[in-house]
Amino acid sequence: MRQAYRATVAHCLKKGSDPFGGGATPKGSEPFLECYEDGLLIVEDGHVVAVGDAATLLPQLGADADVSEFPGKVIVPGFIDCHVHFPQLDIIASYGEQLLDWLDRYAYPAEAKFADRGHAEVVAAAFLDELLRNGTTTALVFGTVHAHSADAIFEAAEARGMRLIAGKVLMDINCPEYLRDDPVSAYTDSKALIERWHGKGRLGYAITPRFALTSSAEQLAAAGRLASEHPDVWIHTHLAENEAEVEQIAKQFPESRSYLDVYDAHGLVRERSVFAHCLHVDEDDRGCMSTKGAAAAFCPTSNLFLGSGLFDLKAMRAAKVRCGLGTDVGGGTSLSMLRTANEAYKVLHLQDQALPAAEALYLLTLGAAEALYLDEHVGNFERGKEADFVVLDPGATVISARRSRVATSIEETLFALTMLADDRHVAASYVAGKRAEIR
Ligand code: GUN
Ligand code: ZN
Repeated sequence: MRQAYRATVAHCLKKGSDPFGGGATPKGSEPFLECYEDGLLIVEDGHVVAVGDAATLLPQLGADADVSEFPGKVIVPGFIDCHVHFPQLDIIASYGEQLLDWLDRYAYPAEAKFADRGHAEVVAAAFLDELLRNGTTTALVFGTVHAHSADAIFEAAEARGMRLIAGKVLMDINCPEYLRDDPVSAYTDSKALIERWHGKGRLGYAITPRFALTSSAEQLAAAGRLASEHPDVWIHTHLAENEAEVEQIAKQFPESRSYLDVYDAHGLVRERSVFAHCLHVDEDDRGCMSTKGAAAAFCPTSNLFLGSGLFDLKAMRAAKVRCGLGTDVGGGTSLSMLRTANEAYKVLHLQDQALPAAEALYLLTLGAAEALYLDEHVGNFERGKEADFVVLDPGATVISARRSRVATSIEETLFALTMLADDRHVAASYVAGKRAEIR
């Protein structure tokens, strides 16, 4: 049966997009915001049938169609988190360290607890419920070194019908003994997980070397071999986040021109490669990412919290590198993509760069889908795409209600939401046309 949702509806499109569907968004064209103040989103069998003015579309609806009305609310596509660690949920907001000490003091001990599969299952369920509570319907997710951490997050995503990419972490040196795999088990465990999960329903696998510091050259070579055997899986890692990390990389890989070059030399820079952070990179690195079709995940709350640096979105855009936003919890301080956009705005402002609301929405939705090569499936309301969407409530708090009452455009309402909103402003999240029941 057709289901329709009436509210203000906003999404991003690209010039040349086919409103009747038909594949990925056109490359290279500028995104723009399309908005219907009294809009209607029509969904059938989990997919978008149409979006437009309620006055035009309501008369075309069959008599049996069910219309859900959301007066005063705003429907946007489900948010996409391009980089997050589910096992770090419980160490979010841990005090006082920069990256390498933070890993030793907080992240590694938390990840050690995932040797217990039951613990992994409990945290995976809580984590995905938190994503949905925040309006995030798709994410690219780090597990731990334990293969069953990937099973746990995939099972939880499958139960919720979410489109999700995840992987078991590869790490065999420069980290606690209790969290190490080795080049052989990294390869065989990841291969088995690819066979079990990649392409199953809405799930995808990411080969996930933690970062070049914690993988031997043999392990990076094994990851590269796996990547070449499976060109349609993702590669997910960290790049040039922290200055001390970059210095150690230069010592560990003296033959490499740059940090990115270490990954490139092992066949790990390609389409569907996603590099979190990319703060201390140069023009050659950006050029390499661009020509090879790799993406950058901009993680502003993490970069500020861990004192890592400022992401240069303008330079990434100029080099035509695909970019999305990531929360990077537990280094990041919120699972809310709205809060993440809030901090992104400030990080860019410090560098004399702008982030208008339309562009923020693009980074949270269609731009992220392009970064992850998922724009055939999700990211906006083009006909045929999967109906992942969020109902935002500007009236959820006193201050945002006051602010939205004096807004005179959807851009202004959306901008104020990115500055003021969090999970309280997510009235509902829909996954493939079904309202998510958040436990
Ligand atoms: N680099 C390597 N591992 C991590 C991690 O867990 N979090 C962040 N922010 N950076 C990393
Ligand atoms: Zn991270």
